[in-house]
This record gives sequence, structure tokens and C-alpha cells, in this order.
Amino acid sequence: KPRLYSGMQPSSDSLQIGNYIGALLSWKRMQEECDALFSIVDLHAITVPQDPAQLRENTRRTAAQYIAAGIDPSRSTLYVQSHVPAHAELAWVLNTITGFGEAGRMTQFKDKSAKQGADAASVGLFAYPVLMAADILLYRTEVVPVGEDQRQHIELTRDLATRFNSRFGDTFVLPEARILTETAKIYDLQNPTAKMSKSAESHAGVIWLLDEPSVTAKKIMRAVTDDDASVRFDREAKPGVSNLLSIYSVLSERSVDSIEDEFAASGYGAFKKGLAELVVSVFEPIRARTLEMLDDPAELDRILAGNAARAQEIADQTLQTVYDRIGLLRRG
Ligand code: TYM
Repeated sequence: KPRLYSGMQPSSDSLQIGNYIGALLSWKRMQEECDALFSIVDLHAITVPQDPAQLRENTRRTAAQYIAAGIDPSRSTLYVQSHVPAHAELAWVLNTITGFGEAGRMTQFKDKSAKQGADAASVGLFAYPVLMAADILLYRTEVVPVGEDQRQHIELTRDLATRFNSRFGDTFVLPEARILTETAKIYDLQNPTAKMSKSAESHAGVIWLLDEPSVTAKKIMRAVTDDDASVRFDREAKPGVSNLLSIYSVLSERSVDSIEDEFAASGYGAFKKGLAELVVSVFEPIRARTLEMLDDPAELDRILAGNAARAQEIADQTLQTVYDRIGLLRRG
């Protein structure tokens, strides 16, 4: 079975619909045919300032949402990144073969550091993609299902693997990004040319998995559209409506054409109402299951601990090989 790896940051108390559509949905499908590992990347989350109690809580909440959305922790390995020390250790080694300019060209770093200001942005934020490369390479990963925004990081991962292999001998497997074009990018409902994001400044355009159904419905009814009043997909001219159509299409597993046809004679109101009902029907059971699991944090911690042990076994082997190849003396 091909090895699959992916992860999310526990950077908010709920995942958003872009995480669900861009990643979780394909994780759930692919875990059937793959030997999959899914991490909650807490070490990535601390590359921007965090509140310690909130981070701990968000980490459990993220784990609960993975499981509630259909990730099966007895089939796939679902664990917390910091529980496996090899991630930080391999990242250090990879830092030493990453060019300063190369890391500086990462667009996500450029965006995030521009927002924070050069002095506020940390070295950790700069090295973020190298840690992500370590995550992937530790497990001899073949496929990485992610949204479009992660493509450049996976390219960097391949470059680092190739460089290491040619310098120190064949060690790493070259991973491939798996990005489904229809679902690669979900946009903010209030600002439909910007990616929907957990860290958005305003929450008005973000659909959270754990929002109350009435809140979800309200956000969809208020989504920015246009005054052309026709339910038609046109990314350039009608970004708001197109984004809603993508969400509709993915969640209903219907073609965009058939949805356009259904709402051809009705206005945006009926279309949005239909979408709100659909989103709520998908998210409500996930929300209920998540809240139920959060009632028993000890059980959740037990699952995470067992899964971390499984991950660690693989990771430690890779790290030992790497240490040998680069010439670190083994402890006698
Ligand atoms: P994160 O936590 O930002 O996002 C998690 C996943 O959700 C996808 N995503 C989206 N997809 C479509 N539309 C959107 N609006 C949207 N917003 C987010 C992301 O592409 C991602 O797949 N660096 C990663 C976490 C990570 C990782 C890894 C991923 C760390 N190590 C190793 C894969 C493999 C991140 O920030 O994800």
C-alpha cells in the first residue's frame, strides 16, 4: 500500500470548511487504499504566537474533528507531531542543507512575515517548510494530499530529498502532492478572491466545522455574490457565486452543471438556502461527534498516545539512517 502523509495545524478551536474540502475529505477516501499517517502539527502552530492553554485545547479539538470527520485511528495513524521527537531532529538536519534564499522564496513565509513585520516574524516561521519536509520524509511518504497553498512546500520537500540523496546516498523517497483541482482552494465568503483561512482576521466569511447550524446558515445567506443574479460558474467575473457552487458540488457529489440547471430559474436566495441546508446536514453530525469525544479527553489522549508509538517506530528508523549517513557518531 502506498504511504500517505498529511497534517493540519491546531491553530484555532475549529477547522474551517476549506480544511474539510481541501484535505479531510480526500484523507478519508484515501485512507482506504493507503498506509496513512495524519498528524496534528503543534510544532508548526507555535511558529506564530500562541496561548499555551488554548494550544493544548485546540490540539485535542483538532484530533476529535479528524476522527469525527471519518479518520479511523485504528486503520490510520493519527498522532500529535510533538509526541514524536524525530520531527524536530530531522528538521534540524534538513535546515543545514536548505539555502537561505531558497527558504526566503516560500510565498507563505513571505505573506505571513509581511503581515507580522520583519522583526516580529520568527526564525521558526522561516524554517516552517523545512519542518514540514521532515514530517513527510521521515515516513518514506509517497503521496501528500493537501490544498493548493501547500504545493510549493512539497516542491521544496522534493528538492531537499533529492539534494540529501545525492550528497549522502539514497535515503529519502520523493513524495508527490495530491491536489484535487476542483477542491484545491475554497475562498472566504466575504472576500471571495482570498483563500478561506483559520487565521483570517474577520470570521464573517469563514465557515467553521463547529459553528452552530444557525450561524453557518447565516454566514452562507450573507455570502458576497454579485448583482447579475444568475447561478453560474465563472471564477473571474463571479468569484463569490463560483465559490459557493464549488462547495455545493463537492458536498453533494453533483456536477456544477446540474446545480446551475437546478437553480437557473431561482435567485441567489434559494440557491444559498439550499447550500446552507446541505452544509449543515454534512457538518451537524461531525459537530455532534466532536463535542461528544471532547467530553472524554482521557480516551482521546489514549488514542493519540498509542498512535504516536506507531509513528515513532517508523520515524526513529529513518532518523538513525540519516544520522549514520551524515556522519554523526553513535552513542556507544
Ligand atoms: P493548514 O493547517 O494550514 O491546512 C490544513 C489543510 O487544509 C488545506 N486548506 C485548504 N484547502 C482548500 N481551501 C482552503 N481555503 C484551505 N485552507 C486550508 C491546506 O492546504 C492543508 O492541506 N503546512 C500545513 C500543515 C502540515 C503538513 C505537513 C501538511 C505540516 N506538515 C506535512 C502535509 C504534510 C498547513 O499549514 O496546513
